[in-house]
Amino acid sequence: MQEARFIFENTKINIDSGAVTWEAPSNIALVKYWGKKEHQIPANPSISFTLTNCKTTTTLHYELLSSPSEKFQFEVFLDGEQKEEFKPKIAAFFDRIVQYVPFIKHFKYSIYTHNSFPHSSGIASSASGMSALALCIMSIEKKLNPELSEIEVIQKASFLARLGSGSACRSLEGDLVCWGTHKEIPSASNLYGVKFPYKVHEKFKNYQDTILLVDKGEKQVSSTVGHNLMHNHPFAENRFAQAHDNLSKLITVFETGDLLSFIEIVESEALTLHAMMMTSLPYFVLMKPNTLQIINEIWSFRKASGLHLCFTLDAGANVHLLYPESEKEPVLEFINNKLVGYCQNGHYICDTVGFGAKQL
Ligand code: PMV
Repeated sequence: MQEARFIFENTKINIDSGAVTWEAPSNIALVKYWGKKEHQIPANPSISFTLTNCKTTTTLHYELLSSPSEKFQFEVFLDGEQKEEFKPKIAAFFDRIVQYVPFIKHFKYSIYTHNSFPHSSGIASSASGMSALALCIMSIEKKLNPELSEIEVIQKASFLARLGSGSACRSLEGDLVCWGTHKEIPSASNLYGVKFPYKVHEKFKNYQDTILLVDKGEKQVSSTVGHNLMHNHPFAENRFAQAHDNLSKLITVFETGDLLSFIEIVESEALTLHAMMMTSLPYFVLMKPNTLQIINEIWSFRKASGLHLCFTLDAGANVHLLYPESEKEPVLEFINNKLVGYCQNGHYICDTVGFGAKQL
């Protein structure tokens, strides 16, 4: 079992209390992960841009218990306010990871977390939140085992974060991270994210992601339910094969800087993700009328301007606008003149590709 190498067995706990803080970014997938097997193993490989401004900062206070506890003892605060409703997800995360980090039973915790984006923005905080928490736990492991290298810390944090929320394993490093085995990327793994190992053209440096907040409401269908609907989905096998092909094509695109092919792959991936939702049983639609309005506006703008603005979507109605830094000025003008009217309360967030998590 490959997972076995992530088990840290030590019986001696030689620290008592302290606090660690990590900041971890969100990420936006270009080839989408949609569908999984047992133990959070992805049904297909994916690749994402790591972001910079959309991030979670988490401080984990830990205090040694007189004897290990069977039930995890912790409290969680978002922006200083206690959040009982966050506890089940974190308890489930602790349950899943305890076999790899058994020392967590020896402490009680206070978790203080802050998202740089509004909680009710419709932007999922699970990728940044789970990776920040996984890193805090790895900082405790590092105190217990100072021999652990930085690379081992990041890789195991990615492994743990994946068990909290699959896409979280792509939030540790940057600027491009792949997750899931792929024949042309020998370093890629189903168990953790790895940095994209090949050449990336200058055109993709500082790529921009402006997130248009179309619908800030809670999603009607969670991604867990969505992933599960890929079991017995009539198009599943073709979809998984397509993700492999699209990742192969992106390897070439990143090398050559072929933005037109980039646009075609990325937009097709976004629409295919939503097509999978619309063709599962039960079926569901997460796009809103304004999502489609924005997509059509982007297509008209691209045709008229010759610029390289494209979109992608995650499992929601918000639209991520991707474009090269060199086209920032005209694209922002277009957003402010046209697209802002489709955003809830005119809200959008400007982000840029980034380089991963940081300890504070
Ligand atoms: O990490 P999860 O289980 O919330 O799934 C995320 C899935 C997508 O955001 C839709 C795609 C992806 O690869 O990030």
